[in-house]
Parts: sequence; C-alpha cells; structure tokens
Amino acid sequence: MQESKSHPDQVRFTDLFKTSIATLRLTPPKKEHKGMSNYMQSLEQDLDNKENQQFGDKFGIGTIHQLPEFNWLTNEIEKAVMAYLKKCGIDDLEVAIFHQKSWPVITRRGSNIVRHSHPNSILSAVYYLQVSPDSGGNLIIVGGPDLIEGTIERRYLNSTPSTRCGIQPQNNSLIIFPSLLNHYVTPYKGKLTRWSITYDITITAGSNIGSGKSENSLIHPMYWREFRRGKKSPKTIPNNHMVEGDFFKDGYLANKSLIPQNQTGVILSKLIERMGANDNRLNHQDRFRFQTPIKLDDASASIIRRIMAFYYPKLKQFLREDSQFLTGLNSICSFPNAKEERFNSKASISQETTASIYLNLLSIEAESGPLIVIPGSHKKRERIIRKDSAIYSIFPVGSTILLNEDVLHCFSSNHSNSKISPFLVVTFGSKHNVRDSKILNNAYIGKYKLDDFI
Ligand SMILES: [Fe+2]
Repeated sequence: MQESKSHPDQVRFTDLFKTSIATLRLTPPKKEHKGMSNYMQSLEQDLDNKENQQFGDKFGIGTIHQLPEFNWLTNEIEKAVMAYLKKCGIDDLEVAIFHQKSWPVITRRGSNIVRHSHPNSILSAVYYLQVSPDSGGNLIIVGGPDLIEGTIERRYLNSTPSTRCGIQPQNNSLIIFPSLLNHYVTPYKGKLTRWSITYDITITAGSNIGSGKSENSLIHPMYWREFRRGKKSPKTIPNNHMVEGDFFKDGYLANKSLIPQNQTGVILSKLIERMGANDNRLNHQDRFRFQTPIKLDDASASIIRRIMAFYYPKLKQFLREDSQFLTGLNSICSFPNAKEERFNSKASISQETTASIYLNLLSIEAESGPLIVIPGSHKKRERIIRKDSAIYSIFPVGSTILLNEDVLHCFSSNHSNSKISPFLVVTFGSKHNVRDSKILNNAYIGKYKLDDFI
C-alpha cells in the first residue's frame, strides 16, 4: 500500500471554542454621574502636567467598590456579571462572586497601555465614564497563539488579525472579559481626559456548601486563615466590665470582634499621619486627647460597611428618617495624662436621634482611657450622674460599641504610663447637627446616608 505524503495544504483546521466578551451601555442617573465625575475630577487634580496616565496605585485606591460614590456602578456591574456568568452556564447559587479589586484609571492624550492580563482574577470589567469618542485608546483583546505560549518568547508568536478584537470605548460603556485574555490599549488622542474604572472579579465556592465539598474550587474566604508568620496571638482581655448590652434597654450594643486587626491598622496609620499634619486639631479641654476628622476613602468606607453588616438593622430601627445622615467620621485618641471627660449626652428636647459607633483601634485597658457609659440613662428624666453605675468598655482591638448618644457617656482618664487609646467614631444623625469640623469634614455634610454603606 502506498503511503500518502502529508502536505501542509492538506491539514484541516477546526476552530473549537469561542470566547465571549460582554459589552453594554450603562447610563448613570444624573446624581450618580455627578458623584463619580467629581470623584475622578478630584483625583485628576492631584496629577501634575507631565503625568499622562495614572492608575489606582498612585492614589492608594484599590477597592473603589467600597466607595459610596460608586455604589450605583458596582451594583450595575454585579447585574451584568451575573448575566455573563449565566451565559457561561454557571449556577449562581453554588458560587460566591466578589468585587476583589477595583481602581480608577486616568488617561490623557498620548498614553497607551502595553499588553498584559489580570492573572489575579477571573473576570475583568472596564467602565468608561468619560472619553473623547473616535480618538484611539481602543481596547484590543488578543487571542490565538497565547494559548501555546509558555516556553518560547512572545515575539515568536505573531498573532494574525483574526486573533485580535478591537473595541472602541464609548461614554458610559462597560466591557466584561475573562481576566486571562491578553489585552492592550492603543494610544489615546482625545482632548478630554479619559476616566475609566476597572473591576477584577473573583469567583469561589459558595459559603453555603461548606469547606469540605468544594474540591477543585477556590474555597470561600470565610474559611481561610492567614499565616501568623511568627506573631503571637493577640492578648485577650477579660471582659470584666461592659457586657454585650441591649441597645434599646441599655442604650448601647457591643461587639468584641467585629473588625479584623489588619483593617484597624490601616486607619491607625492614617490617624498617625494626620497627627503630624499642620491641620491637626488639639482638643481644647485636654492637650493629651486628639480629635481629628477622618477622610472617607476606601479603607474607612470598607470599615463602615463591616460595621453596617452588624448594626444596620438596629440603626435603621432607631434613627428617624431625617436623622440618618453621616454626621461624624473622626478619630479620638488619648495619651497618658489625658483627664477624664465630663459625662455628656446629646439628649435634647428636639425629636432628633443620634447614634455613634466607637471602634477600638487598639486594645483598650482600664487604665488607658476606655469609653465609660451609664446604661439606661437615656430613659431617665433626671440626669443625676451616678458614677458607681458607670461601666467601662475594656475591649480588644477591633471591638465596637453602638451607642445611643442620649446615653450619658465620656472617655475616662488615661493614667497608664505608656498606652495610647485610639478610637474611630462614626456618627449618624440629623445633618443640621454638624457643627464641628473636628468631627466631620465639611465636604461631607448632608452628603452620605446610612443606606450608602450597605
Ligand atoms: Fe487591563
């Protein structure tokens, strides 16, 4: 039998799979558009004239999905990603989906982005908030030979036009694609600075299926444990004073382990930075107690969201509709020698309601100036201060207390030799009640409400 000689022309090729990308138009309501634009505008103001392009790292922003200004966009992206996954046949009940990382990109004329992929995530989404149309800056997604790259340099893998897909960005357009697809951006020539926001989305096994039934899937992060890398377990302090409490009866509700230490650490470092700043404000009554407003950025917003995950139902029930504004976002820190404050309460004859959440940024001990509270004092008409009924919140780092501000309370003295007591305080109430710029950055007055953080 004669063997047939194979010849390249006789090789038959069959294209096996297609890759889906999703594109859609997302036009924000006016208010949301303004909120996002103002935010991007303020970032752009931080760039100098020579900087043609900047990413979230420049501003220290990697989780824009935590910011209230981007709530609308984040929710819309969720819906679009769910539709994308449905098309891919993914059963949404069995998996958990996370906004893992998200960042702003500011692009001026002349900038491009070289070829890359996002190996840290499963799906990527990019939203164009502001762009000059037909001005380059196209997103080119590259397929084909990348599937066989690995042991040879990319320059040998000449991709043919058929393995590239180009997308022209439009105002208010969203593109979703698998993160592992290589992509790049052609030079942008627009007059308007381009503002885009990128989200990296990760999928893990759902928390509901437990830890033992998720073979071959990334297990849900609630079951993860970070390496301690030699660090000793934090010392636990016996809870011998304040107990959990009943919010409506006692006027406070404590949670001893709400915020992880790595998150309190981020706020603490910002607080220390602020202490060195010129606009740092001393408490007039006590030079050993600092009070300073905190910026609402992705770190603080992320903490407020965690706080809300626990306290929101109580706050919603307690606060009147017109008392649900963010009226305080500040830190209070006492140093050794700080004196005990006078007991105070916001009790007023008006119908306004105010509540604060106090977060311990370090473990607070009896001698280092804990918050003290007289439980149930909001219900008493006579405001006689019986100090023997006061209870001390001697709680570990990351603990929180939700307090009805009508309850008599104060910070006690710091008579330790060397301990500092830093707190983050988040207050909700009537927007007409913000008087002190030490408590809330003026730009936030009347801007944020309770529901922005859920
Ligand atoms: Fe990218």
